[in-house]
Amino acid sequence: MKVTVLGAAGGIGQALSLLLKTQLPAGTDLALFDLAPVTPGVAVDLSHIPTSVSVKGYGKENLTEALAGADVVLIPAGVPRKPGMDRSDLFNMNAGIIKNLVENIADTCPKACIGIITNPVNTTVAIAAEVLKAKGVYDKNRLFGVTTLDVIRAETFVGELKGIPVEDVHVPVIGGHSGTTILPLLSQVKTAQFTQEEIESLTHRIQNAGTEVVEAKAGGGSATLSMGQAAARFCLSVVKGLQGVHVTEYAYVEGDGSDAQYFAQAVVLGANGIEEILPYGELSDFEAKAKADMLDGLKKDIQMGIDFANQ
Ligand code: APR
Repeated sequence: MKVTVLGAAGGIGQALSLLLKTQLPAGTDLALFDLAPVTPGVAVDLSHIPTSVSVKGYGKENLTEALAGADVVLIPAGVPRKPGMDRSDLFNMNAGIIKNLVENIADTCPKACIGIITNPVNTTVAIAAEVLKAKGVYDKNRLFGVTTLDVIRAETFVGELKGIPVEDVHVPVIGGHSGTTILPLLSQVKTAQFTQEEIESLTHRIQNAGTEVVEAKAGGGSATLSMGQAAARFCLSVVKGLQGVHVTEYAYVEGDGSDAQYFAQAVVLGANGIEEILPYGELSDFEAKAKADMLDGLKKDIQMGIDFANQ
């Protein structure tokens, strides 16, 4: 098994790489790629941690080597959000980075499962799909926008509010990965009940949790440590799936298109990537309205990616 991180020297990339070095199954190769000159050093640093995961760093000339034989590729490469910036403001900067990196994946490891972290995920996933289609290697069961952070935030905030252990909280989060496109299904939480006021304030907090971090970091970047944890959890589930153990995670994927072409929902991961997409069940009136209100914006985000990739 080989896992490659593109953008491994960044805030998310380093946190993610540390967690993968300590948590991936023994025998896994971990390849770290980034344009930053510190990248080989990050790999050397991690290599001193005594686990049976071998880690190697690759500089900007060695993207092909970093990707060769990869089973899973995670992409946090890009420019992070600064205060006052919306995720969509990042679009022009990050779209080109994703296009270029995914072209290289298509050429070097076309069968790899790809987890896109680079924002705006609503759009960068569509760019990646178009690039893979143009190269004739698109498999919708192997391309994911990583939305695990929305799920762990939702579970943490519900646990805090209700005073219940977070391990006992399960919150489905569907839709997209930006602002009001993030839709936590609080009506489906089995271990807690909410007043309408709590539903509205929790939904708002979950949708704006990225901004909470950006503002608290006061110009020092966006979520890196919690995102690293979320991406590591997602990657470990994909790896388990590839090894034949079915695991369910939420991710932004191409489903049946009944809501939007790409939509975050529960996916069962297995030996070929997505084995099954699970229906999200019945929505409350509040959730049904929030979903209806968000779809136009989400579809625009997706179209922006399709147009960018094909321009
Ligand atoms: N190839 C590889 N690495 C790249 C490339 C590229 N083409 N372009 C930029 N990078 C690297 C940078 O060198 C840097 O090390 O990506 C890393 C990004 O790290 P940070 O600037 O610390 O940003 P981070 O907070 O990790 O966020 C990265 O994730 O959540 C999203 O919106 C966020 O898109 C941003 C990304």
